[in-house]
Amino acid sequence: MITPAPPAADLPLPWDGAVADPVAALAAARADHGDTFTDVSRRYLFLFSPQGVRAFYALAEDVASKGVADVRMLLRKVPDELFAGRRTLPHELFGRDDVGTYLANLDWALEVTARELGPAGRLDVFDHTRRLGHRIGLASWAGRGSADGPRFERLVTALDALDASEAFVHPDLMGEVARSDKARERDALAVATEELARTVDELDGARGDDLFDRIVARWDDAPADERRVNAALDVVLVHLASMSNLFAGLGWTIVDLLARPDMAEQVRGGDRALAEACALESIRVHQRSIMLRQVLRPIELDDGTQRYAVEPGVTIATLLPLTNLSAAPGLDRWDPSHWNGRRLRDPSDLAAVELVTAFGHGRHPCPAQPFSLAAITRAVTDLLERYELVAELTEVRELPSQIGGVARAADPCPVRYTAR
Ligand code: HEM
Repeated sequence: MITPAPPAADLPLPWDGAVADPVAALAAARADHGDTFTDVSRRYLFLFSPQGVRAFYALAEDVASKGVADVRMLLRKVPDELFAGRRTLPHELFGRDDVGTYLANLDWALEVTARELGPAGRLDVFDHTRRLGHRIGLASWAGRGSADGPRFERLVTALDALDASEAFVHPDLMGEVARSDKARERDALAVATEELARTVDELDGARGDDLFDRIVARWDDAPADERRVNAALDVVLVHLASMSNLFAGLGWTIVDLLARPDMAEQVRGGDRALAEACALESIRVHQRSIMLRQVLRPIELDDGTQRYAVEPGVTIATLLPLTNLSAAPGLDRWDPSHWNGRRLRDPSDLAAVELVTAFGHGRHPCPAQPFSLAAITRAVTDLLERYELVAELTEVRELPSQIGGVARAADPCPVRYTAR
């Protein structure tokens, strides 16, 4: 319950009712009702005013929880048993000292990928970046033995079937997942767990100090059969988290650069600052993220015009595509000069800096930002250095059903490549 009651849009969220393009529907609701409103169930409170968005990012986890809201979303797709008893959570793997490990694995993954691509052919941009994302991630938190050869292929098939981000990429399909009692997902989880548990078996006796070793070591006190399965489940959870945004951010950076050959040439020539600005800009422009906080204790929220009392059970939300492109003049255009390092060049143009983001603000910014930007910058530069690329696409639209994460492409993105 919210007091006083804000306007209620005549709009269900896509997991409660049919909405073909939830982002467009919420943009229309904002145009009708202003910057603060609820969905039709009155259980989701949307905030878009500068003060409202600032208040959103300041919410403390024990009062209004991102973790609870996210897990509730992901449970529409992923079997419940994956979340029980995890000992390694994704944000624990992104310490300052870990970036070196990731970059070494990234360079290895780029070599393996180049071998696979051969001297010439045709690739789909987002299929290519997704496979690369699987390879970098698995090499990092499950060892290189899981990131190449038949085990890699079996893991990719299983992890794609399990993909937690489907909960917000295809919310329209979650009714079907529930009706099947997640049968396909349970099968996929069993395959992924067993493949990774075998990797744990093989690791024993050859213990090092990389991320995978650290994940397994947290189960050293458990009986052997529980240890191998639980360490494998920890890896699955980390990997699913990594599948939400990275490959999509890399995909759009490639697509947006291929549409601007002069800039692509500068990146190919080694301009890393430009490559990073392009990555930030592609992520900003193609964000479709809904940000959620589930209220656990009664709170008061001020949107700059009105103070609301909000009871537990309500979820507070904001939606990046509705603020990222409109918070200041010119932000509707893709232009890497919007960025100065990792900050917007002219934050004074914004009524609140929180209105524009690629990797989040406040209490829960993305712990994987340095790794993700380094990975995108290197991967896109590597592709441009190795190959002459000819895009066979004209326009790439964002998948309309999606409400969360960086956009998936609605259209194929074929590109012909020839080794330079
Ligand atoms: C281009 C790549 C990425 C983008 C654009 C991105 C974006 C974001 C954003 C916007 C948030 C804040 C969400 C919120 O406030 O509700 C976030 C948080 C988070 N991201 Fe990322 N992310 C990326 C890559 C990754 C990767 C590779 C991982 C690895 C598993 C990861 C793990 C996380 C985690 C664990 C959080 C939650 C942090 C917390 O609750 O304190 N992200 N990310």
